[in-house]
Amino acid sequence: GIPPPPDAFGSIPLDELCARASDRQLDRWEGSFTAQGGESRIMGLSISPLKEPEMGFVVIFQDLTELRHLEEKLKKAEKLTALGQMAASIAHEVRNPLASMSGSIQILKDSLHVEDENRKLMDIVLRETGRLDYLVGDFLTYARPPTPHFQDVDLRTIIEETVRFFQSSPESASVDIDLDLPAGPAVLSVDSSQIRQILINLLKNSVDSITGSGRIGIALKREEGKSGLETILLLSDDGSGISEDILPVLFEPFKTTKERGSGLGLAIVYQLVEAHQGRIEVQSREGVGTVISISLPPWRSE
Ligand SMILES: Nc1ncnc2c1ncn2[C@@H]1O[C@H](COP(=O)(O)OP(=O)(O)OP(=O)(O)O)[C@@H](O)[C@H]1O
Ligand SMILES: [Mg+2]
Repeated sequence: GIPPPPDAFGSIPLDELCARASDRQLDRWEGSFTAQGGESRIMGLSISPLKEPEMGFVVIFQDLTELRHLEEKLKKAEKLTALGQMAASIAHEVRNPLASMSGSIQILKDSLHVEDENRKLMDIVLRETGRLDYLVGDFLTYARPPTPHFQDVDLRTIIEETVRFFQSSPESASVDIDLDLPAGPAVLSVDSSQIRQILINLLKNSVDSITGSGRIGIALKREEGKSGLETILLLSDDGSGISEDILPVLFEPFKTTKERGSGLGLAIVYQLVEAHQGRIEVQSREGVGTVISISLPPWRSE
């Protein structure tokens, strides 16, 4: 879709441009044109006089549209990064006073002369400072993802330990978690704390989506995938399913349907999976449940 060379570039006629080029006043020009289809394209023009000026000029037209769009995108991304860094340092600064506040309240609460009514108020302060700290922590992880420290570990152990830890929390009391793990070790080079975080964020979402009692399944398989042999980690639940409005933007930060959600859980999961050269896919139906599938490089068979 490159438009035919215009007789005039911008509003300057070609022969005038050539005259300028021969005076070395101008040998490059750029302008925006409407192509036949109606879309706008950015054209570059360069004119160089031949050795003997009376022989004429070499005139080169170039479609610069893609290049200029890429440059725009880069500029925007840089601005966003600067903003993100600033926000992250503010978030970091918020954590220290937050810790002093909850520490002080904890000490006050433990002193003997606090009436029940006031103790309740202190509990609210503690709960809310805890929540803030958690939120700021999530935000920092998202804004400055920690570099993974890869080590050979048995994925089964990480899964079993994380599930045991998760089941000890009161929020998971009414759900059953079924594990379907391979019989032998599944040794893979990963950052185990990041894999734990992936599992915890996903488990939390599943528990949140279950009202009353429900079931969560975690399976670990090694199978042929899109790019050869892969490790597949499947996490399924029979919860509410993901609402259609949020499904296309699920991994973007701050997309949440929860009154007290930050919408960072899955954005972090996405980043961590990427850091492991992995892929994440979601299948969900409202009222039926959700299956999240994470593919990682294959574990070694021993
Ligand atoms: N297993 C699931 N079942 C149903 N809905 C889900 C599930 N996982 C995610 N969602 C939907 O996707 C949204 C985004 O999830 P995400 O974990 O990123 O944020 P959040 O859970 O709302 O907040 P946060 O994790 O930061 O506390 C959720 O608000 C929820 O609507
Ligand atoms: Mg979440």
